[in-house]
Amino acid sequence: MQSFEQLLQAFNASFEKEHFPAQPASLYQPAQYFLSIGGKRVRPVSVLMGNELFDEIAPDSWQVATAIELFHNFTLIHDDIMDKAPLRRGMETVHSRYGEPTALLAGDVMLVVAYDYLNKVHSPHLQKLIRIFNDTAKAVCEGQQLDMDFEKQPTVSMADYLHMITLKTSVLLAASLQMGAVLGGASEGNQQHIYAFGKNLGIAFQVQDDYLDAFGDPQKFGKQVGGDILANKKTFLLIKALETASAADGARLQELLHTQPADKVAQVLAIYRRAGVDEWARTLKAEYDAKALQHLEAIAVVNRRKAPLQELAAFLLQREY
Ligand code: IPE
Ligand code: IPE
Ligand code: MG
Ligand code: MG
Ligand code: MG
Repeated sequence: MQSFEQLLQAFNASFEKEHFPAQPASLYQPAQYFLSIGGKRVRPVSVLMGNELFDEIAPDSWQVATAIELFHNFTLIHDDIMDKAPLRRGMETVHSRYGEPTALLAGDVMLVVAYDYLNKVHSPHLQKLIRIFNDTAKAVCEGQQLDMDFEKQPTVSMADYLHMITLKTSVLLAASLQMGAVLGGASEGNQQHIYAFGKNLGIAFQVQDDYLDAFGDPQKFGKQVGGDILANKKTFLLIKALETASAADGARLQELLHTQPADKVAQVLAIYRRAGVDEWARTLKAEYDAKALQHLEAIAVVNRRKAPLQELAAFLLQREY
């Protein structure tokens, strides 16, 4: 069994190459730029871990891991346009650097190159892998649309929020693990458990992402802190604060959703702090982490094989970037 760090190094070694032709450089250089500025590589490592939980890593898993990371990066390039985000991974976003039209195309071509990698898979399970991949890609689009729809809605329930983040974020982690498990020869039952592990962990991961967007250390986080507040994103922080804040704070928060004063982020953060959202974040993450770990326990392989996935879960919940 390999640790997260070992798999990460191995994946990075295989991923660090040109994924695009040279010309036109005005399209491919922005695409390659984005891949070269880092990223935690959590999803491709999850493919490898999902495979290695059941068997030695199959050569096909490297193609699937690469396809998944390219798909993820495509979603980020487009997400940064939607979210008007200036920074990612501590660097300029593709659309800030090269303009929106090029960012759209760089994302599009990256998605197509993801399919080129899937097309290199020799496994008899290829059809199933493509089905999981496509179902997931559609879910991500649905989640992203809901995320934007919610910006304009005055309130969103906790259930709506959880549904939206399941679609936009957690199914990709779940699918990465399941695709690896398929290639590792896992039984249908074990595949379902690893998928559910990833889905619950993915929810906790997005909760942490939303927390960091408000309270992260800008030096470590690599993205614009407060971006969700400026965009009126309906994160659990906002939902919980609207539920639990004092009458005065609640009314002020509602008002801030319709205005953009220069100190909007600071004002909203002060209300969040008074409402005790830190505690909510901890509770929510712990709840989904526990659900995830129950599914990991239920997977019918010896316990010691599960250590890397336990390590992955701990890392994703504690991360600061
Ligand atoms: C960012 O994902 C998008 C979310 C689903 C929150 P990551 O935090 O995994 O981004 P990178 O790839 O490490 O930059
Ligand atoms: C993004 O959620 C999810 C996808 C890219 C599909 P966010 O918008 O919160 O991700 P970040 O914070 O920009 O990474
Ligand atoms: Mg977004
Ligand atoms: Mg975003
Ligand atoms: Mg975010």
